Amino acid sequence: MFAEIVKGAEAEGKEKHVPYLEAGGRKSGGSRVKIVVGKEVGHPNTREHHIAWVELYGEKKDGQVIALGRAEFAPGYSGPNARFHLDITQFRAFHALAYCNVHGLWQNRIEVK
Ligand SMILES: [Fe+2]
Repeated sequence: MFAEIVKGAEAEGKEKHVPYLEAGGRKSGGSRVKIVVGKEVGHPNTREHHIAWVELYGEKKDGQVIALGRAEFAPGYSGPNARFHLDITQFRAFHALAYCNVHGLWQNRIEVK
């Protein structure tokens, strides 16, 4: 199963891979979702070892899953920090995936009130 290769907070070691998610902004729309890998403990960012990309998925109130965006990073140059602009009121939860070229796939989710 695909889910078996995706790790979460329970698998975290000393390097931090779980994508931190934050949703915010105005209730009337124009809001955003932020994804950061290594918010507290930075992840290495070299050619040999880096976060290559992050993806954002939204879970709508009726359960439909929407692929909302993807950001790719240039190792040694751009870090794993991305912002997606959307109306968060249409969703009940957001899910993020992050890919480390050494340590694989990592996930996280947040619920939106
Ligand atoms: Fe890593």
